[in-house]
Amino acid sequence: MCGIVGAIADRDVVPVLVEGLKRLEYRGYDSSGIAIADAAGVRRVRRTGRVAEMEQAAAAEGFRGTLGIGHTRWATHGGVTEANAHPHISHGDLALVHNGIIENHEQQRERLRALGYAFESQTDTEVIAHLIHHHMVQGQAPGTDPGRRLLAALQAAVKELTGAYALAVLSRAAPDRLVCARMGCPLLVGLGEGENFVASDVSAIVQATRRVVFLEEGDTAEIRREGVRVFDAGDREVRREVHVSDVSLASLELGPYRHFMQKEIHEQPRAIADTLEAAIDVGGFEAELFGARAGEVLRGVTGVQILACGTSYYAGLTARYWIEAIAGLPCSVEIASEYRYRDAYADPDHLIVTISQSGETLDTMEALKYAKSLGHRHTLSICNVPESAIPRASGLVCYTRAGAEIGVASTKAFTTQLAALFQLTVVLGKLQGRVAPEREAGYLEQLRRLPGSVQHALNLEPQIAAWAERFAGKHNALFLGRGLHYPIALEGALKLKEISYIHAEAYPAGELKHGPLALVDAAMPVVVIAPNDRLLEKVKSNMQEVRARGGELFVFADQDSNFTQSEGVHVIRTPRHAGVLSPVIHTIPVQLLAYHTALARGTDVDKPRNLAKSVTVE
Ligand code: F6R
Repeated sequence: MCGIVGAIADRDVVPVLVEGLKRLEYRGYDSSGIAIADAAGVRRVRRTGRVAEMEQAAAAEGFRGTLGIGHTRWATHGGVTEANAHPHISHGDLALVHNGIIENHEQQRERLRALGYAFESQTDTEVIAHLIHHHMVQGQAPGTDPGRRLLAALQAAVKELTGAYALAVLSRAAPDRLVCARMGCPLLVGLGEGENFVASDVSAIVQATRRVVFLEEGDTAEIRREGVRVFDAGDREVRREVHVSDVSLASLELGPYRHFMQKEIHEQPRAIADTLEAAIDVGGFEAELFGARAGEVLRGVTGVQILACGTSYYAGLTARYWIEAIAGLPCSVEIASEYRYRDAYADPDHLIVTISQSGETLDTMEALKYAKSLGHRHTLSICNVPESAIPRASGLVCYTRAGAEIGVASTKAFTTQLAALFQLTVVLGKLQGRVAPEREAGYLEQLRRLPGSVQHALNLEPQIAAWAERFAGKHNALFLGRGLHYPIALEGALKLKEISYIHAEAYPAGELKHGPLALVDAAMPVVVIAPNDRLLEKVKSNMQEVRARGGELFVFADQDSNFTQSEGVHVIRTPRHAGVLSPVIHTIPVQLLAYHTALARGTDVDKPRNLAKSVTVE
């Protein structure tokens, strides 16, 4: 859950590294650092706090160089201190940045200590720096080119590591190159004109190039100004495909918004429309939306098992209602970190669906591997990041087209996941013979209208911002929903706690009287998602239970829900009821409520404390 970037050029690369790290801050933001190397030596600057603080320190020290690496950290091994910040240096000669976790770091540390290496940090990463240095010194046969030795030392060292890593390394002894390695964490090489780069993701280098090579598991690479060589896990030189990324600089910039989260909330009509484009263009729900072989695979599916974490898990919970009701298939949804450690029942004909914005969440990836090991034959990934690990490990793929999501709290990724899952539901329903052409046309029409309805819900922002002022002083909040809207209550509570740090819980409204009602008093705001569906009357009774105990109700209703404002009951109406797609519409107000409450409390909305966007650790 860290971000790494490296560059070799004829120009000063420090601004490239700093800008790259700022774009990678979503991956971790407790400390950062850069190192540069030339024949005179290796220098580094590190700071705890944000990249901007490290940038100032680098400027004050007149940092310049044509070869450099940088890192932004989310602490795992060792506290948030300058000594634990990357780059780590071995013997003043070699600097390294690392994303991932080395599992056998303790054994390696003992071994390196015995060889005379001293450790300055508590990190697993410092072990790798010394290990490469050790192999570099070992390979010091007279006449051996130091550049070749650096690559060979990296290749030897990674074979002695267990765990996950993306690494970039430079050395005073070989100031004409960077070397890097990938296993279990993303890493790509950027190809420029007379300059080349390495980064955790393309956003870090898009200002310099869009031509990228995604390294594969076990790959190492040597990056020089004049060219790049890639080697597979057996150290054989290989050719990897060059991709031209379509990430635009504008998509990575704030524009007129105060925060990325706000921008991303407002991008949802566009993001949903883009995700639905293929279905709308062909005028129907074809299995091929999920890959060329999808028809054959999905036709034989007899059930669905969804695996995901956090917000993506809530998208899965929503999909269960759709899949069972529309496609008539049994569907289970499980938190990936639980599934991977339990003796789960596996029916090989049940489709495994993983949902992940980042495509690199470790628990989801491991759950996918575990499902395959249990005998599941068919896997499908719903993901927002092309070429990321989870879709690459899946048989079928549907990419949501939300565009880069930078705010740590997921927003547009969630609603586009819902859009993709709804398409999957209708495809499965057709293959099961449960969705006739007329019904299919009806669903398509509802999807066509969806971006417009989301826009209407966004127009409620001023009213929701007024509510947020009242929430800002609260310590706790309850979210209630029923049926399809229970997962949206969960998502609303997660958004609020994540970015405003108000303790929030969600319950299916019918469950209130079985315990949580004990929490309700005049200090407890209760948010109710109450669209005009067949459970509305039930929800109204649950609301009475809250009111009778003095709880203050904040109700998100539909235009036609037939509610009246009264003492202690505040109502905001979203556009008319959107049928089965109503959860998508009702997500917007809970996102806006969390955003404006966090704004009123003055928290760091895009980078909430203790969190990071890509969770590549257990
Ligand atoms: C919440 C949030 C997280 C992620 C979770 C899974 O706003 O963003 O709960 O949803 O960490 O991440 P992905 O979807 O990347 O697998």
